[in-house]
Amino acid sequence: MIKINEVNKIYIQDCMEFMSTLPNECIDLIIADPPSGNGIVDEEWDKQWENEDEYVDWLVGNVAEFERILKPNGTLYLYQWIGEKNPLTMAKVQLKIAEKTGLHFKNLITWRKDRGFGVQNNYMYVREEILFYTKDKKNYTFNVQYGNIKRNYIRKCGKSYYKRAGNVWVEIENDEFPIQNIFDDINEKTYEDIYNQRQEEYTLDTKSLSLHSTQKPVQLGERMIKASSNENDLIYIPFAGSGSEIVGCIINKRNWIATDIKKIYVENIIKPRINSINV
Ligand SMILES: C[S@@+](CC[C@H](N)C(=O)[O-])C[C@H]1O[C@@H](n2cnc3c(N)ncnc32)[C@H](O)[C@@H]1O
Repeated sequence: MIKINEVNKIYIQDCMEFMSTLPNECIDLIIADPPSGNGIVDEEWDKQWENEDEYVDWLVGNVAEFERILKPNGTLYLYQWIGEKNPLTMAKVQLKIAEKTGLHFKNLITWRKDRGFGVQNNYMYVREEILFYTKDKKNYTFNVQYGNIKRNYIRKCGKSYYKRAGNVWVEIENDEFPIQNIFDDINEKTYEDIYNQRQEEYTLDTKSLSLHSTQKPVQLGERMIKASSNENDLIYIPFAGSGSEIVGCIINKRNWIATDIKKIYVENIIKPRINSINV
């Protein structure tokens, strides 16, 4: 087992190296937001591999270790990204995960972002993918999440909402519905996150609002944390970045351990961010 004084800590270390110190089956949930491997992010950590196959081997090597350290009822979320520069990377990753591990594919989640980027001669990119795997096909934690999601099968009539049950319309008490596999209700970065993190005023001309180039909104990690773990469970964040998923763990009373190879992120972003949380 992992000792109490080793959890709720961030380690400045390569995640593979760190995982080799962990026993089998000690983690309830892993949220992995790895480098894209294609240099899509203009950071040296996104350009560590000679080619796509080398990257896929590296990533799936990590996934095999994730499988080893996950409890039998554990869950893995793995971020991916598809575009013209890497049309097949995610497919190769999925194929190799199926070949090299016994993880069960549960769903493909698309996070629909607010901020588009790209292109004059193609449809704008506004999505990231999240592969959702469990270690056991049937026995895993899943707490259905609800949100304010309006869809055609819901009708509003007067002030009330109705859903179809068999061939009748049934009034529903509120307008919260089970979250679907397209997350289109989470802003890329909420102003609240940014205000909390930056101790300075910013204007419309401020170049980058966040301190880390690929900072995810806390709410995105929180959704996976609440759905796939319970209070006091232990969550591993292998690629901590700016620490958004760690913040999600802390405010939802989960235990966590995390790694990132960049000391500057850990010291200048993650630790101050964690220290400023009031729970
Ligand atoms: C896409 S970012 C994660 C962003 C994070 N989800 C957030 O919201 O801030 C990937 C992170 O992985 C780190 N990284 C790259 N290679 C690593 C490795 N081998 N072990 C641990 N961390 C690594 C990078 O320094 C970078 O901060």
